[in-house]
Amino acid sequence: MLSYFTSNLSNTVLNKKFLGLSSLVRNFHGDHAKDFLPDKIELPDVSRVIAVSSCKGGVGKSTVATNLAVSLGQLNLRVGLLDLDIYGPSIPTLLGTTEKGIGVSEDKKFLPIEKHGILSLSIGNMIEQTKGLIWRGPLVSGAVKQLLTDTFWGKLDYLVLDLPPGTGDTQITLAQSLKIDASLIVTTPQRLALADVIRGVEMFKTVEVPVAGIVENMSWFQCPNCNTKHNFMGGDAQSVKDLAAKIGVNRLAQLPYVPEIAVSSDRGVPVSAQIENPFAKPYFQLANNVIEAVSQIKKK
Ligand SMILES: Nc1ncnc2c1ncn2[C@@H]1O[C@H](COP(=O)(O)OP(=O)(O)OP(=O)(O)O)[C@@H](O)[C@H]1O
Ligand SMILES: [Mg+2]
Ligand SMILES: [Zn+2]
Repeated sequence: MLSYFTSNLSNTVLNKKFLGLSSLVRNFHGDHAKDFLPDKIELPDVSRVIAVSSCKGGVGKSTVATNLAVSLGQLNLRVGLLDLDIYGPSIPTLLGTTEKGIGVSEDKKFLPIEKHGILSLSIGNMIEQTKGLIWRGPLVSGAVKQLLTDTFWGKLDYLVLDLPPGTGDTQITLAQSLKIDASLIVTTPQRLALADVIRGVEMFKTVEVPVAGIVENMSWFQCPNCNTKHNFMGGDAQSVKDLAAKIGVNRLAQLPYVPEIAVSSDRGVPVSAQIENPFAKPYFQLANNVIEAVSQIKKK
């Protein structure tokens, strides 16, 4: 799998150079300004594009997207993970790819970074995370579009997109620019989050992106002291399942809150990359369920 990526990349000249914010901005105003128009991008080498989203912030989209991508990679699939959270990129931290500067091919395509068996790219690989946080809408749309059009992934089975929360410029640009095969909506079981699930499903319906399913995250806290499942988020074991049934969408996973998941994320080694880690298992189940759900969508 790794050799696949390496041979693929060796076909292009690895012109390693630092891509600063200024070069990106210059590109948006120059070559790419015309790309703001909503014509759909084709990614012919990518079999399936999956967007991981939620209207509510902080529910675990980036953690789910990362562990899903790495789990798919562990299943020997060719996987790319693209961070589309321009204001708050998390993927470099989650994958431990925080060194700045990425490769650029001879034909000026960004070359994603290979780690934990997948390829990934984030604006956080190009600029300091503290910079670029005050971009206006059109710049964000330009950055999203450039990341989509100007990245050389090679052949991929799955491209997983980590979205920012909400229904803003990124989601609109994305839906207008790219054919997305399936979306996943991440939520916690909290009542407050559930209202946002309905909004998310409605948004994807409006832009004609199929919803492959709901991922329930932080469903319970597996307590090491009393060895019971604490329902610390409110809601109950049934609340997301009932909602999913009501709106005709599958719940693809229930993922526990485990401090080790947060710690591993901060260390840049996702639990799904640690095959022996028992907390990797729910993400592998999720990956299998996603494969199944996405294949169902394709058959329609
Ligand atoms: N299942 C889990 N167990 C433990 N911690 C988790 C779990 N899922 C997410 N977290 C932690 O919760 C926090 C928020 O997660 P994450 O950044 O993935 O959410 P997000 O939805 O992408 O946030 P944002 O809306 O800001 O993009 C992080 O500190 C992460 O490590
Ligand atoms: Mg995030
Ligand atoms: Zn307890």
